[in-house]
Amino acid sequence: MQIHTTIDSIRRARARSGRVALVPTMGNLHDGHITLMRQAGDRADAVIASIFVNRLQFGPSEDFNKYPRTLEADCEKLEAAGVAHLFAPDETVIYPQPQLYHVDPAPAQVAILEGAFRPGHFRGVATVVLKLLNIVQPDVALFGKKDYQQLMVLSNMVRELALPIEVLPGETVRAADGLALSSRNGYLSEAERAEAPRLHAQLARIRDAVQSGDHDFLKLETDAMAELEAHAWQPDYIAVRRRSDLQPPVQPDDPLVVLAAARLGRTRLIDNLEI
Ligand code: PAF
Repeated sequence: MQIHTTIDSIRRARARSGRVALVPTMGNLHDGHITLMRQAGDRADAVIASIFVNRLQFGPSEDFNKYPRTLEADCEKLEAAGVAHLFAPDETVIYPQPQLYHVDPAPAQVAILEGAFRPGHFRGVATVVLKLLNIVQPDVALFGKKDYQQLMVLSNMVRELALPIEVLPGETVRAADGLALSSRNGYLSEAERAEAPRLHAQLARIRDAVQSGDHDFLKLETDAMAELEAHAWQPDYIAVRRRSDLQPPVQPDDPLVVLAAARLGRTRLIDNLEI
């Protein structure tokens, strides 16, 4: 695997690579990322991964400074997954001066769920992803369903700005006890890690209830939040939404997804399940 830290270098590599799939990441790679890399490999001649911890998408009280940076271990995993090129720029390459132009996603898409609790987050995500897509110019870009709203925002951005790129979703990878793999799981203490699967368990309970015909979404959401609170979680939201735009369901046959974010100790976890 070749490691590139400059825009010129990754562009030259891209030009030699035929059909390219890009998997943007912030590093600290786990099996969820590696599954995306392998999926990318099935869709392209070469996979380019990027690792860049994007300051713009972190709020002032969030974990930008302590976000785990594990480049050496990440490189070993990428190499083993058959990734051809890693683009790992530092901040002076992506933001040589303070970023003055931004992508502002549609307010209806970012005023809800994650966007309501993390103002500016999706603006930061969309801005850096557009920049990475412009730098690499891949044929395909992959994003995990674990960040369901991010996937929606980025798919819409690519479509609305007419980028000639196919966006592919990757399924969430889970530990045996149901916990969705996430770089932030590393912040959990042993006791919190044992408690953490309750979030997925509550989502699964809602999914099963809805599939069995219970459409009292508000009660299902409220009960799940209460169950988490009873076990020392601080939930931000648990919400059953339409998959298409993450707005509340209207038609009985709307395809649905249930999404959640909750704090366990000092760690904020998110997860979702399609229904
Ligand atoms: O999902 C992530 O890791 C990040 O939000 C992304 C898409 C790499 C943008 O920084």
